[in-house]
Amino acid sequence: MDNSDKAMFSASGTPPAESIPKKKKGKKALIIAAAVLAVIAAGLILYDTVGPGFVNCLISFDPAGGEPIESIRVKLGRSAELPDPVRENYTFTGWALEGSMVGSPYSPEQDVTLTAEWIGNEYTVSFDMDGGLPQAEETTYRTGDLFMPPEEPSKEGYVFRGWKDPQGEKVYRGTVLPWGDVTLTAHWEFEMYDLKLDTDEGDPLEPVQYHIGDVFSSPSPTKKGYHFLGWFSSDGTEFKKGDSLPLGGLTLTAKWERNTFRVSFESNGGSHVNSITVNEGDPFNYPQAPWRDGYRFVRWTDEDGNTVSSGTVIRSSMTLYAVWEVKPAEYSSMGYEIITKNGITYVNGIMIANKTYPLPSTYAPGGLTSECNQAFEKMKAAAANDGISLWIVSGYRSYGTQESIYWRYVSNDGMTEADTYSARPGHSEHQTGLAMDLNSLYTSFGDTPEGKWLAEHCHEYGFIIRYPKGKQSITGYIYEPWHVRYLGVETATNVYESGLTLEEYLGITSKYQIASAYDQFGRN
Ligand code: DAL
Ligand code: ZN
Repeated sequence: MDNSDKAMFSASGTPPAESIPKKKKGKKALIIAAAVLAVIAAGLILYDTVGPGFVNCLISFDPAGGEPIESIRVKLGRSAELPDPVRENYTFTGWALEGSMVGSPYSPEQDVTLTAEWIGNEYTVSFDMDGGLPQAEETTYRTGDLFMPPEEPSKEGYVFRGWKDPQGEKVYRGTVLPWGDVTLTAHWEFEMYDLKLDTDEGDPLEPVQYHIGDVFSSPSPTKKGYHFLGWFSSDGTEFKKGDSLPLGGLTLTAKWERNTFRVSFESNGGSHVNSITVNEGDPFNYPQAPWRDGYRFVRWTDEDGNTVSSGTVIRSSMTLYAVWEVKPAEYSSMGYEIITKNGITYVNGIMIANKTYPLPSTYAPGGLTSECNQAFEKMKAAAANDGISLWIVSGYRSYGTQESIYWRYVSNDGMTEADTYSARPGHSEHQTGLAMDLNSLYTSFGDTPEGKWLAEHCHEYGFIIRYPKGKQSITGYIYEPWHVRYLGVETATNVYESGLTLEEYLGITSKYQIASAYDQFGRN
């Protein structure tokens, strides 16, 4: 009970009845009656305001988030209708006193504070997946519930970054959702992939990041001495500008082609020399020298007359010009004039093909000469008479055939070894159409009856054993008991009887002018 006690005393502070003067009896009775009435009236008023026992109860309200409610004063023993409070997005379910619901009207027994009980309004949360899967189910929430995200969706090429409300604000697990129906939208970010660009020893390129929908921009790499052909994936697929890129990353490798230059030859009256292709930065090697009857080839020059020597690095296409020098009459050590006709060397009228004197690549009789062929048939018949069988294993060989044979031997045995038994292209006697290999290409053939017969009798038919035993330093080749050269009976017999090799007989050398076949033919 509060100040109402004091109020009660002040309201009942009427002086005692004895203090009333007793002057007139009738007047006195009237005053007493009035006083009694006044006391009764005051009592009634007090009864009505503070209730029985003069007690009032105060009902206070805690709106618990709702709008404030004025307290109510109720007399003890009386009841009061309880108000319905208002709270946005909530529905009022009643008043509670210390956790227990109370009804309305409510009759307090003392001052009380009632607390509003609320239930959140129901609303739906739907999901805009923005292309992601699975579609999240629409969910029912009540105001005040905490957000529980649905199963995390996925979307090819994107990374899921959570949910956003219509204002674009992030909504996390446990976030109190905004009131009312709401659509949350999946927030996606591009998944980034690496595009690695392997320039294959070209100038390096930084990796590039890309995402779904990006297309290849096809950067142009650089590599000295090469030109770029394109970008290729490991499975050989070419990627061109504008091509879409696969998800997950990609490595592309640059494909290159060597820059090449054409070196053309103007032989200035000499034999034709085919132009050659040289890789940028590679050294240029002299091709087989051209020939020009009566002249000696000196060198190649550029158009300004500067010598371009073998080994010069080529940086552009160019034409080279042959420089010739009048060849004075040349004689062998045996006094024979060494004559060149159409590029072919003759000594004492004998066509020469050895390490010193090559044949032009264009010289191609196409087969053994008929004279040589006939001589062989005659020899073969004579041998047969003696019970000796002869046959041709290898006769005429073109420049091209010799080229493939020689380089095959080089790849098998190496150049130094190959040079002892196989002629470089242009240097083979087989290209003359006047030489042949018989029966067997084994050294032991020399010790067979056929080999012995051949060595003893071939000169009678115009042939000599061209590369005899122990003459490698002179002929340039190891002993080849199977290789015969047609010279005609007279010359063959003279050479046979001299016991000399053809080189010794004529007084000429057999030695390559360029030690390495690689240099001579510009190969590597
Ligand atoms: N075997 C000889 C030397 C040649 O290749 O012509
Ligand atoms: Zn041969």
